[in-house]
Amino acid sequence: VSTAGAPQAGVVTADDILRAAALLRAGELVGMPTETVYGLAADALNVEAVGKIFSAKGRPADHPLIVHLPDAAHLTHWARAIPKEAIALARAFWPGPLTLILKREEGVPDAVTGGQDTVGLRVPDHPVALALLRAFDSGIAAPSANRFGRISPTTAAHVREELGDKVALVLDGGPCQVGIESTILDLSRDAPVILRPGAISAEDIAHVIGRTPQLRQAHAVEGTAAAATDTDQPRVSGSLAAHYAPRTPLQTASAAYLVEEAATLAGEGSRVAVLARECADPKDSRLTWRNAPADPAGYAHELYARLRELDGCGADIIVVEALPDTADWQAVADRLGRAAVGSGDGKESGDERDET
Ligand code: TXA
Ligand code: MG
Repeated sequence: VSTAGAPQAGVVTADDILRAAALLRAGELVGMPTETVYGLAADALNVEAVGKIFSAKGRPADHPLIVHLPDAAHLTHWARAIPKEAIALARAFWPGPLTLILKREEGVPDAVTGGQDTVGLRVPDHPVALALLRAFDSGIAAPSANRFGRISPTTAAHVREELGDKVALVLDGGPCQVGIESTILDLSRDAPVILRPGAISAEDIAHVIGRTPQLRQAHAVEGTAAAATDTDQPRVSGSLAAHYAPRTPLQTASAAYLVEEAATLAGEGSRVAVLARECADPKDSRLTWRNAPADPAGYAHELYARLRELDGCGADIIVVEALPDTADWQAVADRLGRAAVGSGDGKESGDERDET
């Protein structure tokens, strides 16, 4: 727990859990580790507490939140008309990085669902989150613990950086294993649709339910004409094209041109940061060079921490080695694409994306 001094990462005591549960009951916000990213947790049934999430993040009030449950047996308190497919998926993947969108039960606050008739539910696979959920014994609403539109936190230190003054307590569960947000699967309509790709793939899901979910295309950037006409879709902030973004402008370059591109930009006087995958460090002193693992799971585990680090290194531009266009890279490629679209607003004080 990270209240005073320099806490040892990953050490959370039973007392810390009880304290966190008491804070949630008192309507306070708590930083909660999960296997995907850190969440900004509040009592999902306390409308005032949920309101604090939105003001802390600077998130628009009509964006729904995921409710975290201690186990699948709690589903019936939150969802109705639960399809068999949901039960099968919960059995296969919970606790784990899969969020199910289901018809909501009466009594689930509008503040949580953004006023929609559906609710997002998942059981996270992290011992600290599960201990907190069991102690709390009800639903915990928790979006990623970052300011709206910014890079999701994958360590307790990131949460303190983003929202330190807004949370009563940050439980330090160490670095998140998965590193990118859960797969979101909408089961509230006729055909299953993946609203956000994640570590659990369409193929994993098809294996369990016997049909392959469609992947919904990213929304147009918020505020554009295309977004304004897209009214039949549920609001999913994770599906806005500009999301998960560093303040430094970010572009991708294929492996074949990465070194050349970075050197050209440096030659033009830019301070250049590079996130490579397979390209070797050319040891060019003008470049801040980082390598991420070459496998999708390893890359996902490190992506946000590396982006955060490069965003803070004083570079004018971040150049990222483009990822393969294959199914196993889909979830991280999705995050990188959004990071590129949303990047670069840090140097313009008037940009509203900073505040909203
Ligand atoms: O891995 C995760 O899912 C993390 C950890 C903390 O659990 N949480 C997370 O929460 O990523 P957040 O709020 O940053 O993203 C949740 C996404 C949002 O894009 C939200 O709009 C969508 O889930 N969502 C929640 N309820 C929904 C609903 N009823 N219909 C459609 N989308 C929903
Ligand atoms: Mg988020």
